[in-house]
Amino acid sequence: MQHFLEISQLTPAEISVLIQRALDFKQQFKLNQPLPQYPTYTMANLFYENSTRTRVSFELAAQRLEIQSVNLEIATSSAAKGETVLDTIQTLMAMGIQLFTIRHPEDGIVQNIADVIGDKACILNAGDGTHAHPSQALLDMMTIIETKPDVTQLKIVIVGDLKHSRVANSLQWICAQLGVKQLTLVAPDDWQPKHIHFGQVTAFFNESLHDADVIITLRVQRERFQTEDILDLSQYCRDYTLTPERLALAKPNAIVMHPGPINRDIEISSTVADGAQSVILQQVSNGVFMRMAMLASLVESAISASVKFV
Ligand code: CP
Repeated sequence: MQHFLEISQLTPAEISVLIQRALDFKQQFKLNQPLPQYPTYTMANLFYENSTRTRVSFELAAQRLEIQSVNLEIATSSAAKGETVLDTIQTLMAMGIQLFTIRHPEDGIVQNIADVIGDKACILNAGDGTHAHPSQALLDMMTIIETKPDVTQLKIVIVGDLKHSRVANSLQWICAQLGVKQLTLVAPDDWQPKHIHFGQVTAFFNESLHDADVIITLRVQRERFQTEDILDLSQYCRDYTLTPERLALAKPNAIVMHPGPINRDIEISSTVADGAQSVILQQVSNGVFMRMAMLASLVESAISASVKFV
């Protein structure tokens, strides 16, 4: 594999291998066992949008695999002087950097960059616009499988701002690839997606929760709202905040997830976010191991193909 761009480019077998590798890394790390080391590789984090979890976890993942890492501070880089993303990447490639994690507000830009770069470097999509967030979907599925291994028996509910959610897009693909029994996508009418790949869309949150095994709440992404997007936050909270009363409608052992960052008491009440059924911090922790699996997989592919980077 040359790049990680979106879940749809992975086979079910490749997804399963990545999840198992991440689980193995987690176990090895816990037991203080040696991890693979790739000290001749360097990764650059290029985040043209804010991030805490994705950026830090890619950096930590690289450190744990002895991959050198650099964080480009976009605001103080030559991007502020008008340099394109592609020119920035080619500049860093000329310095010997082979791995690039890119977050950008523009849909599809990461794929476009990968098309130009070809096999001269490895590109990892850390979230592009409203399009895709593959590492998030992989770590989410890892977290689900840790608690509920047979996903073909699961009902998963995703609730929130589906219209602007790259996380929901990538989750649809991974649920389809792994044969999740039922995926229900819940949003108010104005926030429902125009196109879906997998699952059924509804505006009725309470009804959707019956028999749910997994509830994934999504952030209200105000920064992506267009002028036509209407947000009546108090109405949204009345109908869609995951409260303890609503959680009681799901299966008693249902797990609660959120990709973060959380708007507390908007998408999810603090009681639920911090409660016994929440696996939100487990998602964060798994994010490091999943990104280790992704980086190791790209480096090992390059080694076995004897790829000569620039
Ligand atoms: N879930 C997620 O992508 O979080 P960050 O924006 O903090 O990276």
